[in-house]
Amino acid sequence: MADNIIRIEKVTKQFAGGAKAVDDAHFNVERGEFFSLLGPSGCGKTTLLRMIAGFEFPSEGEIYIDNQASSLIPAYQRPTNMVFQSYAIFPHLNVFDNIAYGLRKSGLSGGELKRRVNEALGMIKLDGFGARRGDQLSGGQRQRVALARALVKRPKVLLLDEPLGALDKKLREEMQIELRQLQKSVGITFVFVTHDQEEALSMSDRIAVMVKGKVLQIAPPQELYEAPGNVEVASFIGSINLIDVTVKSVGAGEAVLDGAGFGQLRARAIDDLKAGEKLVAAVRPEKLALVSSRPGSGSFVEGTVKASAYLGDRSHYHVFVKGRTTPIYVAAQNAERAMTGGFDTAKSVYVTWDWQSLILLRR
Ligand SMILES: Nc1ncnc2c1ncn2[C@@H]1O[C@H](COP(=O)(O)OP(=O)(O)O)[C@@H](O)[C@H]1O
Ligand SMILES: [Mg+2]
Repeated sequence: MADNIIRIEKVTKQFAGGAKAVDDAHFNVERGEFFSLLGPSGCGKTTLLRMIAGFEFPSEGEIYIDNQASSLIPAYQRPTNMVFQSYAIFPHLNVFDNIAYGLRKSGLSGGELKRRVNEALGMIKLDGFGARRGDQLSGGQRQRVALARALVKRPKVLLLDEPLGALDKKLREEMQIELRQLQKSVGITFVFVTHDQEEALSMSDRIAVMVKGKVLQIAPPQELYEAPGNVEVASFIGSINLIDVTVKSVGAGEAVLDGAGFGQLRARAIDDLKAGEKLVAAVRPEKLALVSSRPGSGSFVEGTVKASAYLGDRSHYHVFVKGRTTPIYVAAQNAERAMTGGFDTAKSVYVTWDWQSLILLRR
């Protein structure tokens, strides 16, 4: 049985006069896991995190932390600690005192205090920075200090609310890797909030996708990307082409479909598929390729390049296909082979794919 450090049981949060910020959330977080809450701004991520921390209380349901119902446990007695986007460190205190702050408040002093703070400084790779004042640090260093200040208290769960949001892209990517390594080495459970899908995909063991207060799917990154559970999740994670299809027939593990603008299509069957059912076939742009002459076999559709963008390692194309109102989005790697040709606007092309890369989704 999984060792769940957090159990969220049918938790709903309704603010006075507002819609449900969190709507019937129900999931577990395993001990030692890097778990992310991913969703657009306003979907309820912070509210859910604050309920775990004890800064906010569920209108319905219960949150169990380390097998204890948390509703009667105040924030400061929970085995959790929170790191915010705006690194709330004291600018007038030095790094050592910033990190020591919470430990001193809980009565620690002398050699043990020093040892714990220095250990935390090592974790965040700021050994020797103890005497530096908070306002003499870069953004990345300040965020590290905020992290150390939370870690030094040795919480069982660290709650992080968009902690890298204020950093520039390069630093953010560095910190993503460091944070992931740090989490694995200290073994503390992380619940990490972000609206950035790449960040969630690259860091997490599992991701919960939230939209309008509802948790739509919980899965490891690869599963979320390769096998999204529905159209909403598929569209939120990465870009994807959606094709309205009607099921013509279902065979062994395979379905034959009729797709607007595509004629007959093949895809892997999903459960309980019936002839006549209308659903959506989805395909990622990088699963598609462009060729200039008509393929002899396999899955393809004819179209016209409407727009293209050269991005160095790859090119993006919008291909217009007759019978469709939205173009097909193709992301082609600029491998040696393709570089010689390129595909100009207004050029007639064939979009090809492996039939197994079509994902059937119900709306
Ligand atoms: N204290 C509050 N009072 C009323 N409404 C709130 C409060 N906090 C958040 N909300 C509302 O709850 C919804 C979810 O907010 P939030 O959890 O902050 O989303 P996210 O962190 O995903 O951006 C939003 O519609 C927001 O306006
Ligand atoms: Mg938020």
